[in-house]
Amino acid sequence: MVHNRSIRLASRPVGMVKPENFSASDDNVPEPGDGQFRVKIECISLDPAMRGWIAEGKSYVPPVAIGEVMRSYSAGYVELSNHPDYQPGDAVTGMFGVQQYAISDGTHGVIKVNTSQAPLARWIGGLGMPGTTAYFGLLDVGKPVAGETVVVSAASGAVGSIVGQIAKLKECRTVGIAGGPEKCRYVVEDLGFDACVDYKAGNLYRDLKDACPQGIDIFYENVGGEIFDIALSQMNLFGRIPVCGMISNYNATEPVPGPKNIRSILVNRLTVRGLIVFDFIKRYPEAAEALGRWHAEGKLKMTEDIRNSGIDSFPDVLNLLYTGGNMGKLILNVQDPA
Ligand SMILES: NC(=O)c1ccc[n+]([C@@H]2O[C@H](COP(=O)([O-])OP(=O)(O)OC[C@H]3O[C@@H](n4cnc5c(N)ncnc54)[C@H](OP(=O)(O)O)[C@@H]3O)[C@@H](O)[C@H]2O)c1
Repeated sequence: MVHNRSIRLASRPVGMVKPENFSASDDNVPEPGDGQFRVKIECISLDPAMRGWIAEGKSYVPPVAIGEVMRSYSAGYVELSNHPDYQPGDAVTGMFGVQQYAISDGTHGVIKVNTSQAPLARWIGGLGMPGTTAYFGLLDVGKPVAGETVVVSAASGAVGSIVGQIAKLKECRTVGIAGGPEKCRYVVEDLGFDACVDYKAGNLYRDLKDACPQGIDIFYENVGGEIFDIALSQMNLFGRIPVCGMISNYNATEPVPGPKNIRSILVNRLTVRGLIVFDFIKRYPEAAEALGRWHAEGKLKMTEDIRNSGIDSFPDVLNLLYTGGNMGKLILNVQDPA
């Protein structure tokens, strides 16, 4: 008998998520009604924002309720359809949640994707939300100009890896910040950045200065904390800081201190702007066209880190994002092994 196994929020975590913050349930596989289709979900996207989605308090989306299926971007195949625009076998992405099957009517951002152009998982990675975030965050908020120096934190990850490669396409000097020599090697040798600074080596201020002899024009921020502070101190006049993420704060249990070098915003007349990818929803087709074209031309490299430890391992796999245990876009395969 086939069941739909889902992962539900059981309690709100304090600090890092723990397995007991979630519960697994087995229900009958749902039947699509008129105008609906059923998706067999293959893989789900692990996103740092998930920690915010399960926290109390004001955010840009309402929190996942206790008992609700955990929210996630997911990718799978239509299995059964009563919808004229979706046929069995169609590959789709959408907010289908951390479960093995979902019912959809094709609204709420469901997208049909072409798996002959790229593997299914990539459509929730570099060709999906993280790539779209990188595209708008760098080009619209950062506004790079050829010859400028662009620095991006969490450079080997889903968003950072695309930011840096687009910055190279725009003919900028591109410097990553990442944790450890292996990630830094990947960022320079495989992704083509000009340099990468290992913030775990303990000499970030000096190493970043050496990597950016002309100062920093754009600092694409994914991390926050000390990295943000040090980058602030090395910004050039009229620099731009797209604030995309603050992952170092997401599991904080105490209020996080502000940056010491905030005066740099004034003296350097910096533009510091937060962005949420949904802000650009009307222009998603533009990003999809550009990312798809660069990918097809071999100008954008994308790496997925796909875990096959089963749907119940969701909390442990999610934590890899906050400990730096992922290498590229973190994905969990949710179907049981055949
Ligand atoms: N604004 C938006 O719409 C939007 C959309 C998508 C993502 N984001 C944000 O973008 C950022 C990156 O997301 P992603 O999906 O691309 O994740 P990712 O970079 O693939 O994975 C997260 C990485 O963050 C780094 N990290 C974790 N804790 C850290 C710490 N305390 N200090 C320094 N680095 C730390 C780790 O890399 P190292 O090993 O290098 O430390 C880890 O591998 C996140 O902040 C996320 O919230 C924002």
